[in-house]
Amino acid sequence: MKNFISVHDVSNINALVEKALEYKANPFKDKALGANKRIGCLFLNPSMRTRLSTQIAAQNLGMEAIIFNVGSEGWALEFEEEAIMSGNTVEHVKDAAPVMGKYFDVLAIRTFPSLKNREDDYSELYIKQFIKYAGIPVVSLESATLHPLQSLTDVITIKETFREKRKPKIVLTWAPHVKPLPQCVANSFSQWINAWGEADFVITHPEEYELDEQFTKGATITHKQNEALKDADYVYVKNWSTFNDYGKIYCNDPEWMLTQEKLKFTNNAKVMHCLPVRRNVELSDEILDSASSIVTQEASNRVWAAQAVLSEILNAK
Ligand code: CP
Repeated sequence: MKNFISVHDVSNINALVEKALEYKANPFKDKALGANKRIGCLFLNPSMRTRLSTQIAAQNLGMEAIIFNVGSEGWALEFEEEAIMSGNTVEHVKDAAPVMGKYFDVLAIRTFPSLKNREDDYSELYIKQFIKYAGIPVVSLESATLHPLQSLTDVITIKETFREKRKPKIVLTWAPHVKPLPQCVANSFSQWINAWGEADFVITHPEEYELDEQFTKGATITHKQNEALKDADYVYVKNWSTFNDYGKIYCNDPEWMLTQEKLKFTNNAKVMHCLPVRRNVELSDEILDSASSIVTQEASNRVWAAQAVLSEILNAK
């Protein structure tokens, strides 16, 4: 694996999941793989799980992880080619990324979308510019449109918890939120579940919350949440802002919040969420504090997803 930006960087999803589960069973088995190697983790936006799990994963492989909160502590970076830098940006990625490429063996980056201009966000300029100029492997810690380490984690969590000899029914449901959020997690989850191909996959959301078809194609899409939930084995809860009239909140109907009452339509479904979650807005206390919720197990698996990906990258170097 050269870079890890989306599911397209993965040749065999099941093999990568198996690798992650091997690390879960034996975290230090490849302690020598990353000896004398260094990963730089750049955060242009906040994080808890991604930051800590990537650090732990790197250390499990014997790597040193250096965290740089570029967004709050670094020079403001310019990403546009041929920019006349007379505004707020201080350093061009063309100058910064090659320096980082000399300091590190792997570069991992978190950037969020602006949610102001869809074409700009969906061009993934930031992460593409780091790939272009760093000269070392780049791992997405969430980009403008995708969150591949989260989605790999989600497939790992589904595979390790599903015991039946049939395809699971997985439902991605929109949930209310107080502010416009990126589409990254929903896009990425859809992309991975579709690429994995071993589930009946249904997406449910209010009208006007369609996601980009390039990620959802292959899933059944409905505006009727209760129908979607019928016989579900997994319910993945996530808010996202509008894609077509980009970055807006149209509907914030609390009726879309998942409750125990609605879970009765499901096949005793396990409830997933990438976290952080707004309690009693996105998901009710009664669900998050119940046995149906597997959000802590899911978040703990972030370590093994990151470790499997870093291992693939180190082995390819
Ligand atoms: N799920 C996730 O990416 O969490 P953080 O934003 O805390 O990293």
